[in-house]
Amino acid sequence: MLLKDKVALITAGASGMGRAGAERFAAEGAHVIVVDFNEANAAETVDGITAAGGSAAAEICDVRDLGALKALAGKVEREHGALHVLYNNVGIPGAAGLELTQDEWDFGIEVNARASFFLSGYLTSALKAANGASVIFTSSTSGLIGSPFSPMYSFTKGGIIALVRSMALAWAADGIRVNAIAPGSVETPGLPAFFRTDDPEEIAARKKAFFATIPMGRASQPEEIAGVALFLASDLSSYVTGVTIPVDGGITAK
Ligand SMILES: NC(=O)c1ccc[n+]([C@@H]2O[C@H](COP(=O)([O-])OP(=O)(O)OC[C@H]3O[C@@H](n4cnc5c(N)ncnc54)[C@H](O)[C@@H]3O)[C@@H](O)[C@H]2O)c1
Repeated sequence: MLLKDKVALITAGASGMGRAGAERFAAEGAHVIVVDFNEANAAETVDGITAAGGSAAAEICDVRDLGALKALAGKVEREHGALHVLYNNVGIPGAAGLELTQDEWDFGIEVNARASFFLSGYLTSALKAANGASVIFTSSTSGLIGSPFSPMYSFTKGGIIALVRSMALAWAADGIRVNAIAPGSVETPGLPAFFRTDDPEEIAARKKAFFATIPMGRASQPEEIAGVALFLASDLSSYVTGVTIPVDGGITAK
């Protein structure tokens, strides 16, 4: 088991890539803390993990609430002492286009960037106590290449890539590795929102057209992202820090 007796915290752990990561980490022996504001889905994730013989707990909070994140970090430190894996996965497509209101801009930044920055900071001593912690961020191919639809989203995901490099340098001497995954298209409950329409037929058409542009000709499954997250979380990647790994079926190779 690659994460035996480790403690891992995953934001947005109740759905999609976060849930797949939670299940994979738990199957490898970690106790997983599933952070999400969707109580029912977080409970479902935890129940699934415990039914499979794993260990998990749900923590319900809105990551826009920095007070709640600070309290969560305090609780993690009190209950576990050390945090071995912090998977900063939360993110939303947010508002599209260039004509955003200030509230739309702030909302996207708060969920996609501010939450992960501050949660990492609040957890610093728990991460140091792990003697070899791994911090993983979820970026996106939209942080590596441009998209005319989601400039604000691209800004947050590109910012994550820059943050990861600097945070990796700041924490290298403490034995804390910091990396990111840049997924392309992943078949999660959150994927349809990226196509910017509520019409199911239009979503299907836009998906088909977009997937056809992917060199591997398909989107990925959340489990294919979880495999890379496990690599970054475990000692398999013990000398890897400050990098962003595209997991995109070849999108950014073009
Ligand atoms: N799906 C894709 O194709 C894709 C591609 C590239 C990057 N990403 C990124 O991957 C990450 C996960 O995406 P996904 O598609 O697996 O997600 P998803 O939409 O399936 O799930 C997101 C989860 O986040 C939770 N959440 C949202 N806002 C929250 C908040 N303010 N506080 C607490 N919880 C909150 C939701 O309740 C939900 O459980 C995100 O950062 C996303 O930007 C997704």
